[in-house]
Amino acid sequence: MVLNTNSDILAVDRGLQPALYNKREIALVRGNGVTLWDAEGKSYLDAMSNYGVNVLGHAHPAVTEAITQQAGTLISCHQSFANDVRARFLEILLALAPENLTRAFLCNSGAEAIEAGLKFARVATGRPNMVAARGAYHGRTAAASEVTGGKHSKQSGGGGAVTHVPYNNLDALDGAVDDQTAAIIIEPIQGEGGINVPDDGYLLAADQIAQRNGALLILDEVQTTLRTGVAFAAAHDGVQPDILCTAKGLANGVPIGAALVSDAVAAELGGGIYGSTFGGNPLACAAGLATLQTIEAEGLLPSSVELGEQLRSGIEGLNHPSIRAVRGRGLMTGVEFRTRVTPILRGLQERGVLALPAGSLVIRFLPPLIIQPTDVELMVETLGETLATGS
Ligand SMILES: Cc1ncc(COP(=O)(O)O)c(C=O)c1O
Repeated sequence: MVLNTNSDILAVDRGLQPALYNKREIALVRGNGVTLWDAEGKSYLDAMSNYGVNVLGHAHPAVTEAITQQAGTLISCHQSFANDVRARFLEILLALAPENLTRAFLCNSGAEAIEAGLKFARVATGRPNMVAARGAYHGRTAAASEVTGGKHSKQSGGGGAVTHVPYNNLDALDGAVDDQTAAIIIEPIQGEGGINVPDDGYLLAADQIAQRNGALLILDEVQTTLRTGVAFAAAHDGVQPDILCTAKGLANGVPIGAALVSDAVAAELGGGIYGSTFGGNPLACAAGLATLQTIEAEGLLPSSVELGEQLRSGIEGLNHPSIRAVRGRGLMTGVEFRTRVTPILRGLQERGVLALPAGSLVIRFLPPLIIQPTDVELMVETLGETLATGS
């Protein structure tokens, strides 16, 4: 079969993969900057960065150059050997993190970083249980899905009991943590749960609850990393978690993840506790290094604050009765509707803008940090047109 139409490619994809994903009816075959193209040459403004991954957009020259150079030098290097590129990446990554986090376990995805964080907390405290938030999303491997709330949650062997409490509710959190709690795990902003931004001070107070009970605080920054106007959202509250899990945007699309830990946690982690064959490979580290250096050199974190405000105030300015709330921080924005968002997402896609759902009532915009004010105007205008025509 010649694979040059969206429907031909989708037919093969659907025929050869288990039906785990709701497919979006187009096949994406190329990207450049903030533009993606489907198999039939139609272009789209990328307002989703592949679920928050492509912070520098597509085919960014600095990342392409770093990957190309590293591919011709050394792609993999098991972590039982040191590597120059990995060492440089680790230095930059940890310099961006809360200052109490001094070491990083490198892996390949968000869920792996969460698995590591949960395991490290259980080993470091010698306690079995976790307290997590309702509406949380931490990934779909066995242990990560135990702490995930709602429909993605699955009980699965794993460690101890998991108690879910309402997000942004300190009394409930306080009541749930006890002397068997290894850690509280929370997202600084809930992503999949609907871009839920907690009150200022929530993360700091959660840390104090953990400390009072001899438990740890794990921040899941897999989605918030590089998205909220700062490298890690922990900085908004000035909180110093014991463990911080990160992934997604770190290497602009090359798979990578990390669990950053404090000295005290690291001291409890002996040889063989965890490992990963691919984790910390030089190819991903080279991409990560180029990504972090470019973001710093081009001032993309401060500019993302203004672009996010432009987007949210533009959407509020549409004054559309179907919009219930607009919320977010930096370039992490959720628009909550009174009705299901699938038709609106389809309408945006037909008009050339790719956005994401976050649950059934929220549209999520996670554009690359390199978008321009004119792209933001286009996103707002296209949403306005889509809502004006009913889908
Ligand atoms: C907050 C959060 N944690 C963990 C994960 C899991 O990451 P991955 O899909 O890379 O395993 C995600 C993915 O969306 C996420 O948003």
